Amino acid sequence: MTSTKLCRVVVLISGGGTNLQALIDAQQSGELPVQLTAVISNRPGVKGLQRAADAGIPHGILDHKAYESREHFDEALIQLIDSHKPDLVVLAGFMRILTPAFTGHYLGRMLNIHPSLLPKYQGLHTHQRAIDAGDSCHGVTVHFVTAELDGGPAVVQAKVNIFPEDTADTLAQRVQAQEHIIYPLAVKWFASGDLLMENGLSLLNGELLPHCGHLIDHSG
Ligand code: GAR
Repeated sequence: MTSTKLCRVVVLISGGGTNLQALIDAQQSGELPVQLTAVISNRPGVKGLQRAADAGIPHGILDHKAYESREHFDEALIQLIDSHKPDLVVLAGFMRILTPAFTGHYLGRMLNIHPSLLPKYQGLHTHQRAIDAGDSCHGVTVHFVTAELDGGPAVVQAKVNIFPEDTADTLAQRVQAQEHIIYPLAVKWFASGDLLMENGLSLLNGELLPHCGHLIDHSG
């Protein structure tokens, strides 16, 4: 990516969009030199769409319920995303299982954020599962998206403590505060050309990242 052409980013959401807001805030403050080209939600009426509208970002809805199959929806979604000519697709609370055709199409140029220290707790209810398992720490991972659900190579992880009095809600708040720091960071790395995926692995500044990605450790 040259400095004259900003990285074009399309953000996919399904809900509240606090991660989208973190990207908007970072972009608007000058911290994140990208072009937030479009926001697409698979659910109508979600707060994330209002956040996009407030920031003046083109936004739209592609309701998965209008499609007879996952394959048909993903095909339509590819067409809509590609009409915005993105360099990077950012999944920010996009709660869909993706087809291999979709993940293959954006391989190496699609990031996801998942609220656990992957490979632990893929899927849903991650905060409660970490508490129920008696874990002393928990966290969040940004990773490249591959065909494996929550399984692509990690880029950055933030680790936080779990305290005895924690509920899923208090733990989610602690984790989300970190989400809003590490997602703009990962997008910035990608946009500057410092981060890439090669042979199924994440590289930062030409160096192979460890399995957990770049670790930001607030636990202990
Ligand atoms: C975030 O906590 C994100 O980590 C999670 O959804 C939430 C969306 O919040 N993503 C997943 O669970 C993906 N498997 P937001 O809409 O406020 O950004």
